Amino acid sequence: MAAPRFLYGTAWKEDRTAALTEQALRAGFRGIDTANQRRHYVEAGVGQGLAAAYRAGVVTRDDVFIQTKYTYPPGQDHRLPYDPRASLSTQVAQSMASSLEHLGTDHVDSYVLHGPASGQGWTEHDTEVWAAMVKEREAGRTRVLGVSNVSLRHLQQLVASGAEPPAYVQNRCFARQGWDRAVRAFCAEHRIVYQGFSLLTANPEALAHPVVTAVAVRNQATPAQVIFRFALAVGMLPLTGTTAERHMKEDLASEGLTLSAEEARAIESLAG
Ligand SMILES: NC(=O)c1ccc[n+]([C@@H]2O[C@H](COP(=O)([O-])OP(=O)(O)OC[C@H]3O[C@@H](n4cnc5c(N)ncnc54)[C@H](OP(=O)(O)O)[C@@H]3O)[C@@H](O)[C@H]2O)c1
Repeated sequence: MAAPRFLYGTAWKEDRTAALTEQALRAGFRGIDTANQRRHYVEAGVGQGLAAAYRAGVVTRDDVFIQTKYTYPPGQDHRLPYDPRASLSTQVAQSMASSLEHLGTDHVDSYVLHGPASGQGWTEHDTEVWAAMVKEREAGRTRVLGVSNVSLRHLQQLVASGAEPPAYVQNRCFARQGWDRAVRAFCAEHRIVYQGFSLLTANPEALAHPVVTAVAVRNQATPAQVIFRFALAVGMLPLTGTTAERHMKEDLASEGLTLSAEEARAIESLAG
């Protein structure tokens, strides 16, 4: 399954996770992002939503791009998907086995390291986890690998360690940092697809900016749609975690908006 143009994010949906996942698939999303981190996600609910959509004939497994994550113990609460006393490599294997069970599949499409062990740089722990993730890929349990919540420094050190680069980087995308300009440039150089989250929630000033509202008015669209259209225009794979059916439709329809190269450049540089 090739990566779709948009990912539906399943964080913070608790007991609505299954219903919203199914609704997103019915609305037309073909990419689902989750994590085996009960603190913020109900991965088993995502599996229930997928199963309901398969049963109803909305999609088959092959139609859907499924992405999940391994999360280090400090990012988890007490509901762990692995033995925290086990080695990191064993944790990755246990987390993956649990994810496949939750998601009702024998493989995911993308497996992401939720965040490196340290904010300062790529550590030996990350090297061990990444090697374990490569083994999962070699065993066919994921098609590709990704990393999340990374700085340019993390990525440079990962690549310099001789490890294979990720296929995806998933980061919170702040307009005031040129929409994560440095990391996006690194991704472009290394043929890594940049996945952007919090595109709306992290950027209220961009949503209200006259450059954005003018494009919205011309397209008879909303500023939120313009932000997603911009993200697509600069090569991002955007995430949305909307809980509203109308917004699901609007977010997907944003691809049809017109946005000139000049407007995209103006939005790219509107806040830094
Ligand atoms: N790797 C990580 O550490 C990490 C961290 C955070 C998130 N994520 C992933 O990214 C996903 C998305 O998270 P997010 O932070 O981008 O989004 P989010 O927190 O789920 O929030 C989306 C917000 O935008 C609103 N919205 C969506 N479409 C809209 C539209 N067309 N018009 C107006 N408002 C709209 C939603 O409101 P309504 O619900 O009312 O539409 C909601 O308030 C998560 O579910 C998760 O999968 C990953």
